[in-house]
Amino acid sequence: MEKARCIMIGLLLVILSGTVFAESEIPGLIRSGQYSQGTLGSVNQPGQTQQSSDGVYSVGVYPLYTPELAQGEGREIIQIFCRFCHSTTYITMQPPLPAAIWEGVVNKMIDTYGAPISEDSARQIINYLRTYYTQTARKQ
Ligand code: HEC
Repeated sequence: MEKARCIMIGLLLVILSGTVFAESEIPGLIRSGQYSQGTLGSVNQPGQTQQSSDGVYSVGVYPLYTPELAQGEGREIIQIFCRFCHSTTYITMQPPLPAAIWEGVVNKMIDTYGAPISEDSARQIINYLRTYYTQTARKQ
C-alpha cells in the first residue's frame, strides 16, 4: 500500500515537472541578433525599421570590435599564443611601433606576465610584428 502511494506520488511529480519545465513559446521577447565584422572607429546607424505590432523586437547587426590581423607568415602563431589572456585588439590598437618596441612587448608578455611561449614561437611572433606592424610596414 505504502509502495503504491510512493509510485503514485512519483508519477505525479514526473508529470508536473514535465509541464512546469517544458519549453514554451513566450511572446514579446527579443530575437537573437546577428554578429558581423565591424570597423573600428565607425559605428553605422541602422536604417529605420518597421515597428513590430506583436511586441517582438529585432536587433540589427552587432559589430565585432576585433579587427583582422594582417595576412602573412606568423599570423596563425600569434592567434594561438597572443589570445590566451586578451584579444589581438591589443596589437591592432597600438600605433605603428618600431621593431625594437615590439620585441620588448613580446618579451614583457613572456617575462612579466608569464605567457607560455617558446623561444622559437616568440621569434616568429616578433618577425611577424616587425613585418606588418611597424611605421614602414603598417597599412592601416
Ligand atoms: C599570460 C597572459 C598574456 C599573454 C599570453 C599575452 N599577453 Fe599581452 N598583455 C597581458 C597583460 C596582463 C597586459 C596588460 C593589460 C593591461 O594593462 O590592461 C597585456 C598588454 C598587452 C599590450 C598592450 C601594451 C602593453 O605593453 O601593455 C600589447 C600590445 C600586448 N599585450 C601584446 C601581446 C602579444 C603580441 C602577445 C603574444 C606574444 C601577448 N600580448 C600575449 C598579458 C598577456
